[in-house]
Amino acid sequence: LEDLLAEGVSGRRVLVRSDLNVPLDGSTITDDGRVRAALPTIRSLAEAGARVIVAAHLGRPKGTPEAKYSLRPVADRLGELLGKEVRLAGDVVGEQARAVVAGLADGDVALLENVRFDPRETSKVEDERAELARDLAALTGEGGAFVSDGFGVVHRKQASVYDVARALPAYAGGLVLAELEVLSKLTGAPQRPYVVVLGGSKVSDKLAVIEALLPKVDRLLIGGGMAFTFLAAQGHSVGSSLLEQDYVETARKLLAEHADKIVVPSDVVVADKFAADAATDTVAAEKIPDGWMGLDIGPRTTEHFAAEVAAAKTVFWNGPAGVFEMAPFAAGTKGVAQAIADSEAFSVVGGGDSAAAVRVLGLPEEKFSHISTGGGASLEYLEGKELPGVAVLEGGA
Ligand code: 3PG
Repeated sequence: LEDLLAEGVSGRRVLVRSDLNVPLDGSTITDDGRVRAALPTIRSLAEAGARVIVAAHLGRPKGTPEAKYSLRPVADRLGELLGKEVRLAGDVVGEQARAVVAGLADGDVALLENVRFDPRETSKVEDERAELARDLAALTGEGGAFVSDGFGVVHRKQASVYDVARALPAYAGGLVLAELEVLSKLTGAPQRPYVVVLGGSKVSDKLAVIEALLPKVDRLLIGGGMAFTFLAAQGHSVGSSLLEQDYVETARKLLAEHADKIVVPSDVVVADKFAADAATDTVAAEKIPDGWMGLDIGPRTTEHFAAEVAAAKTVFWNGPAGVFEMAPFAAGTKGVAQAIADSEAFSVVGGGDSAAAVRVLGLPEEKFSHISTGGGASLEYLEGKELPGVAVLEGGA
C-alpha cells in the first residue's frame, strides 16, 4: 500500500477488496469490528485523493442477489465511520456499478453490492472468475490499481480476491500486512508455554489446524461443540450433543498420541433443548444424561482453562467455548476470554466468532495483543497453507 501511495493515487480509481462480512441481526450489524478494521486503508487512499471502489461479500448467497445479503447496512456503517457518504451500487459490475463509479470525485468512496451475487465470484472455473476479474478491473479504468485488504478472505481463490490481482497492478493493504506480521510470530518461535484454546462446532473444520499445531504447542484446550467428539472418543456418552461420528476414531488417536497436551472438558453445561429458555444443569463430562445436549464448558473446566492461560506466555484462541449468543451458555466463553484479557501473554484472538465474542461480551479489546479479522484465513495460515490471495500479490506480501 505504501508503494501505491508513494506512486500517487490522486484522481485514480483504486479497487479495494475488504472483508466486511459482519454478523447481522436482520439489518442491524451486531459487531462492526471488520468494518472498523477496514477503515485505515480506505481512509488513507481517500485522503490521498483516490476514487475508492470497495468490493466485499456478505454471507454465502448462491450467485444471485438476495435482499438479506445486501451490503446496504455495511455501506451505511462505513459511511458513518468515515464521516462521509458511501454510495452503494445496486449491482456488482453492471450498469449501476458503472454509474456510481463514474460519479466518484477525488477522495470519494463507493461500495459495490455483494460480490457473491455474481456467480463468477466463487466459480471453480478459472475463466469465469477471470472474466469477472476483468469486469472489476474495467471499473477502475486508466491508471487503476487493486489493493488486497480483506485478510479474512485471502484463503479464498475467488475472483475479487485472487483473479483480480492478476488483472490490475496489485498491492497488499495495511490490514493484510499487519495480520500477517502478527500471525508470523505464532508460527515462528512463540514464547513458551504456548497455549491454544480451540472451540467452535466442528472437529472436521479444525482437524488440519489441530494436527499442524500439536507439535508446536504446550497445551491444546478443547471446548465448544467439537469437544463432544473428543469426549465420545474417551468412551463417554454425550447424549444429544453435537457429535461427528466419522471423527471419533481420529480424535481417539490424537488423544492417545498427545495425552500430555490435549485438555478436554471435565464438566459441561447441558440443556434439554437448543434454546435460551431451555432447562439447564451442570454435569461431569462423563455423565451427560440421554436426551440432553452440552452447550457450554462447565465452571470447573473454565477454571482449568483459565489457569492454563494464566501460566502461558503465548496464547492463541479460536472458536467459542459454548453457545455464547445465549446467556445461559456464555459463561465458558466469557471465562476463557477474561482469562486471556487478564494474562500478560502475547495473545491473539483469531476468528470471526471469537473476535465477535470479545466485543459482544464487552471485554476491552486493548487487553488482547491482537484480534484477527480472519477466521478461516488465520487458521489456514497457522496450518502453514499458502493463502492464494497473498501468494498472488507480487512477491507475496
Ligand atoms: C469469514 O467470515 O471468515 C470470511 O469473511 C470468509 O467468509 P467465507 O468463509 O464465507 O468465505
